[in-house]
Amino acid sequence: MANELRRAAHISGWGRYAPTRVLTNDELSRMVDTSEEWIQQRTGILERRVAGSDETTASMSLRAARAALDVAELDPRKVQLIIVATVTPDYVFPSTACLDQDALGARSAGAFDLSAGCSGFVYALSVAADLIVAGRYDNALVIGAETLSRITDWSDRNTCVLFGDGAGALVLQANEARGGVLASVLGADGSGGDLLKLPAGGSVHPATSETVDQRQHYIHMDGREVFRFAARVLPKATRQVVEQVGLKVEDIALFVPHQANGRIIQSAVKALGIPPDRVFTNLARYGNTSSASVPMALAEAIDEGRVQKGDLIVCASFGAGLAWAATAIEWSLPLPVPEPPRWRIFWRRTLYHLARIQSWWRRLWRRADARLRRLGEGEDE
Ligand code: COA
Repeated sequence: MANELRRAAHISGWGRYAPTRVLTNDELSRMVDTSEEWIQQRTGILERRVAGSDETTASMSLRAARAALDVAELDPRKVQLIIVATVTPDYVFPSTACLDQDALGARSAGAFDLSAGCSGFVYALSVAADLIVAGRYDNALVIGAETLSRITDWSDRNTCVLFGDGAGALVLQANEARGGVLASVLGADGSGGDLLKLPAGGSVHPATSETVDQRQHYIHMDGREVFRFAARVLPKATRQVVEQVGLKVEDIALFVPHQANGRIIQSAVKALGIPPDRVFTNLARYGNTSSASVPMALAEAIDEGRVQKGDLIVCASFGAGLAWAATAIEWSLPLPVPEPPRWRIFWRRTLYHLARIQSWWRRLWRRADARLRRLGEGEDE
């Protein structure tokens, strides 16, 4: 593995959040024409989480982000870059990353959303790692978060059994120790865009009463074709990224694939020849959470003690675009990470309260300033 000293992006924090509401296959079988057995056998999913009415992509991503910053012991005011990978942002604009930046009080951070379907998080991790290696930033908060339940057609059995909500986050920090994010592969084939899309709400079909009546604001998917695409690119991207770092598939200590369908994962793992005990899946409990799937799975694997210093981890993803991505990481942090002292947790919570007050104050000040200026202009006239 990477022997020479070089500036690298290392994972120093991780966090995840899943809403408390569990939607089981049994419940789904009472909503659409399906059965518990069909869902389990064809997808491997047993249940998924659904955001509460007061939860959004930003609120869930914030929880994951705070947990990741806690582990990294990184003061939110020192975060330099926030990327939120999502296809279900709170708004088309402002970006969810900016909402997070404000709520975290990350006043030194640039922030943007990244949309690459279910591959969004691995794309974002690659972008952040490369910016760190280039010396542009010393740290980055990379989040994958989705509220897919809001764009799922709960009357379409072809799609509604697959998706769930949640968020995961990683903190990347620069140092010259061995390991970190070693390489990434990013791929796309836009000719397959029609296979998985949200038809309306963009500039082609802006929202109208017709687009709503025609259920065009929900996920539309050709499941069979997406399956074939996924089964092809998942092993291919994994092999490519491992080759890029001069290693072999046999060297992978932990494979964290996109959690879309158990059969896709099995087919890829079989093609690659990775032993099942080196593959992490939590699909049965969360379903496909799109951009949140890889960081939620990776964070859970780390919490479960599935990684050790020096391990080669490969995360690979595929989805709408069509797009795919894979990244190779050499784990560099001794585990388990010691619990932070209570006073530090209390201090960080205080910082978040302060951030909320500061945000409120800035909004108030902006409004007052605008009114004063209007009054001034009126007097000038
Ligand atoms: N319950 C019962 N029957 C269902 C069903 C459900 N929830 N969903 C589809 N079916 C039916 C289909 O209507 C079809 O019936 P027909 O033969 O009468 O037309 C039959 O099951 C088989 O459909 P098919 O699409 O071949 O099933 P499948 O084994 O490929 O499984 C998916 C369907 C969607 C689970 C599978 O194709 C898949 O996971 N695709 C990839 C999707 C994905 O990962 N998307 C996200 C990418 S990020």
